[in-house]
Amino acid sequence: MKSNLSYLKKLELFKELDDYKDDQFFAVADQRVKNHLPQWISFSPNIFWLKQPEEEKNLEVFGNAVEFFLKQGICRSSTIYAIGGGATTDLAGFVAATIQRGVPWVAIPTTLLAMIDGSIGGKVAVNMPQGKNLVGAFHLPERVLICGDFLSTLSEKEWMSGKGEVLKYGFLSREVHDLILSKAPIEEIALACAKHKSQVVERDFKETGERINLNLGHTLGHAFESTLKIPHGHAVAMGLRYLFKVTGNDEALAEWEQLAKALTLPVEKLELGAFFHFDLKSFLDYLDHDKKKSGTTLRLVIVKGIGNCYTEEVVLKDFKAKICAHADFKSS
Ligand SMILES: NC(=O)c1ccc[n+]([C@@H]2O[C@H](COP(=O)([O-])OP(=O)(O)OC[C@H]3O[C@@H](n4cnc5c(N)ncnc54)[C@H](O)[C@@H]3O)[C@@H](O)[C@H]2O)c1
Repeated sequence: MKSNLSYLKKLELFKELDDYKDDQFFAVADQRVKNHLPQWISFSPNIFWLKQPEEEKNLEVFGNAVEFFLKQGICRSSTIYAIGGGATTDLAGFVAATIQRGVPWVAIPTTLLAMIDGSIGGKVAVNMPQGKNLVGAFHLPERVLICGDFLSTLSEKEWMSGKGEVLKYGFLSREVHDLILSKAPIEEIALACAKHKSQVVERDFKETGERINLNLGHTLGHAFESTLKIPHGHAVAMGLRYLFKVTGNDEALAEWEQLAKALTLPVEKLELGAFFHFDLKSFLDYLDHDKKKSGTTLRLVIVKGIGNCYTEEVVLKDFKAKICAHADFKSS
């Protein structure tokens, strides 16, 4: 059940990959990282390239990828490599979970978000018209090869998204919290986040207990992501901030400010006032359909202290009333 994490420099990664340089090297890869990769991968006929990974994370492209690999002669002993951000690793992992009833896969995450979250933990999926990640499987990668050198070409938007998710780990892990505040190099912080998630997943693979805490900030986060059309990690950072505001958790809010500043997140872009088009009704409707809701309650992850979180069922109606009564939402 162990997810095998390694941190490598680019040359070390290339050396590892060179060992698999044969007609049995199969990969799903994001076109955008082509220039980062050794030339033999760019020219390999066994790579299923993605141009717009999030748009292509669907059943149709999943089917095309499966057909492609079968035509290329993939067999049960083959391994599929996933090279890209979280959308690429989600799609590739799902292909690996289903081809010939499951072949091994190796994740090579290339965005900060995928390095600390998306590629770790074996939740693999595609999106459906009815919502994100609705068809998928639990299929752990054999290895996760983290190489910080990929980060050099990330756009500002993707940096912000990754750092938003790092902020969450600052509440879940004392080690990550202290690394952020001491302004450690982002690669070191990323590795600590990845290790934290990996250890939690090892103890609770199917998310029946402690893994639920990894959803901290995601209830409001998903509602922001859907209604404001902003990247996932950006929405998680806002989800955390407004969770603390709405529940009156002033201590956690003060920590949030400190962590966000240390991560050089643009705090002004993480408040509702920055969005002219916020639609409160759609936001509240989204909470009604949140998949963690059971009946009339909603499951929230609450921060008691750093590294000390727990889940609480709250009455949806009361929680929505608190949101509506909050000054920031009132003035939106
Ligand atoms: N399975 C999980 O546990 C889990 C957890 C969190 C998120 N996710 C999924 O991950 C996805 C979000 O992850 P993401 O933000 O990495 O998305 P992504 O894969 O769409 O990547 C974001 C953008 O960055 C580009 N990109 C990738 N690597 C790059 C690089 N090195 N330099 C420049 N650009 C690069 C991509 O082409 C894309 O445009 C969502 O689909 C989400 O559902 C999954």
